[in-house]
Amino acid sequence: MTEDNDVELEARLENRERFEPPQSFVAQANLVDDTIYDEFERNWPECWKQAADLLDWENEYETVLDDSDPPFYEWFTGGSLNASANCLDRHLDDRGDEVAIEWVGEPTDEDDRAYTYEALHREVNEFAAALREQGVKEDDVVTLYMPMVPELPIAMLACARIGAPHSVVFAGFSADALATRMNSADSEHLVTCDGYYRRGDPLQHKEKADEGLSGVDHDVESVVVVDRLGDEYDHPMENGELDYADLVAEQEGAEVEPVSRDAEDMLFLMYTSGTTGQPKGVKHTTAGYLSYAAWTTQSVLDVKPEDTYWCSADIGWITGHSYIVYGPLALGTTSVMYEGTPDYPDRDRLWEIVEEYAVDQLYTAPTAIRAFMKWGSRYPERHDLSSLRLLGTVGEPINPRAWKWYYKHIGQEECPIVDTWWQTETGGMMVTTLPGIGTMKPGSAGPPLPGIDIRVVDTRGEEVEPGKAGYLTVDKPWPGMLRTLYNNDERFVAEYWAEYSDTESDDPDDWVYFPEDGAKLDEDGYITVLGRVDDVLNVSGHRLGTMEIESAIVGVEGVAESAVVGGHHDIKGEAVYAYVITEEDSEGDEDLHDRIVEGVEDAIGPIARPEEIVFTPELPKTRSGKIMRRLLEDIANDEELGDTSTLRNPEVVEDIAQTVGDA
Ligand code: PRX
Repeated sequence: MTEDNDVELEARLENRERFEPPQSFVAQANLVDDTIYDEFERNWPECWKQAADLLDWENEYETVLDDSDPPFYEWFTGGSLNASANCLDRHLDDRGDEVAIEWVGEPTDEDDRAYTYEALHREVNEFAAALREQGVKEDDVVTLYMPMVPELPIAMLACARIGAPHSVVFAGFSADALATRMNSADSEHLVTCDGYYRRGDPLQHKEKADEGLSGVDHDVESVVVVDRLGDEYDHPMENGELDYADLVAEQEGAEVEPVSRDAEDMLFLMYTSGTTGQPKGVKHTTAGYLSYAAWTTQSVLDVKPEDTYWCSADIGWITGHSYIVYGPLALGTTSVMYEGTPDYPDRDRLWEIVEEYAVDQLYTAPTAIRAFMKWGSRYPERHDLSSLRLLGTVGEPINPRAWKWYYKHIGQEECPIVDTWWQTETGGMMVTTLPGIGTMKPGSAGPPLPGIDIRVVDTRGEEVEPGKAGYLTVDKPWPGMLRTLYNNDERFVAEYWAEYSDTESDDPDDWVYFPEDGAKLDEDGYITVLGRVDDVLNVSGHRLGTMEIESAIVGVEGVAESAVVGGHHDIKGEAVYAYVITEEDSEGDEDLHDRIVEGVEDAIGPIARPEEIVFTPELPKTRSGKIMRRLLEDIANDEELGDTSTLRNPEVVEDIAQTVGDA
């Protein structure tokens, strides 16, 4: 940061710890009355009717919360509705001509595509009819392995319309990752894409999908392919795959009655990394999830139907599900969707989009903000960003310096920032300030949202004093919560509840959800999230299990053992550090290094690529044989080494530290 104004920023904002919501924002905010916190507490769980009221119901629900069988909570029981009807049909009369999805492709020489609610409704109906014709039935899981093309949200809503849960697999994931997820969900239908643009180049995706399909252990009934790249890439279609455009054209004008779904019926599955090599299929429901996504979009992101709102996440992750597709469309607003990277054709692409579409709210990730900061303020300064009213961040902690840069250079000191803590499992935001109400404290996400009961406790479950580090727990259920892990109730209880609950009890007060994050509270009840306490890394806001990466590495010929930890990285937040022991007759040379990188990319995807691979003859182990990851983390972060006295082989730590230092 060399520019004058950055120096000025440092001087003026550096020591400021509190920021009040700007008056201009408060004057128009969706929520301005802080009594909402007390009201929700007094009136819990009935307070969540407020979320349910944002939806149109076919049959009214009878009970807000059924907590008779914890932790298998049910919300809005007895009610029925359809998510696609809520995101489309009900807006047609008033907002049919308004833009629902403003899609911006990466190449700048092609037209962007704006789908009005009417156009989106039409195509969703046509594709829903096509899916049905392919034999997709209610409750069949449809896998969507697609990049950021408009056909992805269309396919999601088409699935929702016919009551078929979708399972979106991030396009950056590998063929193996696709196969694992289709196998786990017994998914017999796939919608994919020939490719997409990345930094100006067409990138093929179809062959990766084909390779994934070859690893599926059951019959696949249908494969539909979206042709994004046209003449740029002649994709293979040799196995009875169907072309998306043909299918939709055949169904021109088709209307599909939205299937009436029970409130608790599954809307989608989303796989996420856990502590074992096997990803977890998080199950979200129709009413609880959708109402919570809509309520938080309205309350936290301050979205109004007339806004143009932009979340720059990928729909392959939960943020895109909740805050590009379901939340914004349930509210009838305009949701911007961008195909490419922020630095193509230049580092001002995001700001160009903000200016061109007069974006009101921007919701992005700290990793992106750190990159913008590094590139410098001259890029946003090229554009008029005065349309922005609110900024948001998600995915990892944001350091105060990056927060202040975002506040000044993007928000022009006129936009509140919401730093939102949540997870794939929570469905929607859990901890953040309400932008028209709460004082902001850079670096701290804020208090729990109204109706959300969060504590910071020690290992015994006792609350820790303000300022002390502890573990985050959620003490009451909420509508957007995951209901279980797909086909695995046992793992659901073991992973999220067993730590702090009396698992024998059927009293909901004895059940506590454990998100596996460390945190501390301040005197005002604000929560600073300290990061994962399990073996999960957060690389550029993407969650990766160390076990998944380790099992990919030990699958490489010549590798005997491996331990993966997170090392600090200026832009990515965390980066993958892999410590590798080779087999006796193998060498830790460049060839093996490259094969390990390739192995990880094949098993998971380029996001999991190790930043550094350290070959070592031994790993630090306790006397009982457990790898001391903390010490490896200290080495990766070039920190003073922690206690080595409990090690069986203390000398190895210095040796590894030396190797890393030399690298
Ligand atoms: O460690 C927390 C971190 O991201 C994890 C959840 O990752 P995922 O399920 O992929 O969802 C990301 C998008 C919601 C959390 O357990 N995390 C998320 N938001 C924040 C955060 N850490 C600190 N501050 C945040 N605002």
